[in-house]
Amino acid sequence: METINVTRSSMPPFEEYCEEIKELWDSRWLTNVGAKHRQLQEKLTEYLDAPHMDILTNGHLSLELSLQALELEGEVITTPFTFASTTQAIVRNGLTPVFCDVDPITLTLDPAKIEPLITERTCAIVPVHVYGNFCDVEAIGEIARKHSLKVLYDAAHAFGARYRDRGAGAYGDVSCFSFHATKVFHTLEGGGSCFQDGAFGKRLARLKNFGLNDPETATAWGGNAKLDEFRAAMGLCNLRHVEEEIEKRGRAEARYREHLEGVPGLRLKAVQPEVQPNHIYFPVLFDEEVFGVSRDRVRDALGEQGISARKYFYPLTSTFPCYQGRFDPGITPIALEASRQVLCLPMYGELSGETVDRICDVILNCPKRGGAP
Ligand SMILES: Cc1ncc(COP(=O)(O)O)c(C=O)c1O
Repeated sequence: METINVTRSSMPPFEEYCEEIKELWDSRWLTNVGAKHRQLQEKLTEYLDAPHMDILTNGHLSLELSLQALELEGEVITTPFTFASTTQAIVRNGLTPVFCDVDPITLTLDPAKIEPLITERTCAIVPVHVYGNFCDVEAIGEIARKHSLKVLYDAAHAFGARYRDRGAGAYGDVSCFSFHATKVFHTLEGGGSCFQDGAFGKRLARLKNFGLNDPETATAWGGNAKLDEFRAAMGLCNLRHVEEEIEKRGRAEARYREHLEGVPGLRLKAVQPEVQPNHIYFPVLFDEEVFGVSRDRVRDALGEQGISARKYFYPLTSTFPCYQGRFDPGITPIALEASRQVLCLPMYGELSGETVDRICDVILNCPKRGGAP
């Protein structure tokens, strides 16, 4: 039985990568912001429509160090319907997450629910472009301006997606991307922060290099988040193929939709007006009452056929044991329901139409409650 993983990393042609790294044997400049790093940073700044950008060793440190570079204190309004990284980056900065519910269609932060949560301690909003669905960037920007709050987008899923023909790096004070091996574009591990303000950029560059201002003076509590030259080289190669990767994923998504669109009890990934999608994930929400089969049962049935699908995001980050019951998941009922219903189906560029047919076949033929298929 052929095993189907939920994702499969894209790779450039082997020879292309070898060619790209060849000169490193001459230069012997392997890390500490070398030529590949600088080239990739320049190309990504343009691709993401960012005013400025810095690239880092992973998406999590992009979030964590960017929050630190914003020099915040107090409460941050954010979503619990996200990957662990978003909430961990907030609490590891000594900030208090204040969880806000999400929009039922896009599953991104619901702007109508943000303002009632603002207090005099609120310093920032940290929304997430979940599954490449764009947050309501206009409404969030307006609230932030009105209350003098910073906006930092977790854009880990938004690489290559565009809203009104602008890349996700154009929005917010800061937008943080992940270039993890499972993403549409990757540097094996990697990440990047797009930002508006040059002074912020200087602070971030210092934080990713041990807080050093010069070789002898640390002026901030920094860490090490430098992207090495081999990974930057992988990024340079992958960037040449990213549009093709997105297009191929788009074909797989279209095939899923042919089978699953309109099936009672299934809600497929949102289609947003004015958004050019990146097809990074294909989430389906299973309403057990209507579909007759629970999300978990569908996941198990796929697993029995060697197909792995992922409960992503489940559970809400607000329920993690490390937060010791500080947060009540009941205050974000839409996010809670989505986390119980969502299943991300396999999605990657090389996913064939026939494999999508096979996956949908398993889903649609899951025995319903009461026995009938
Ligand atoms: C929403 C979100 N934020 C942050 C991250 C962290 O990115 P990385 O794995 O590059 O550290 C991820 C990773 O998948 C993510 O999905």
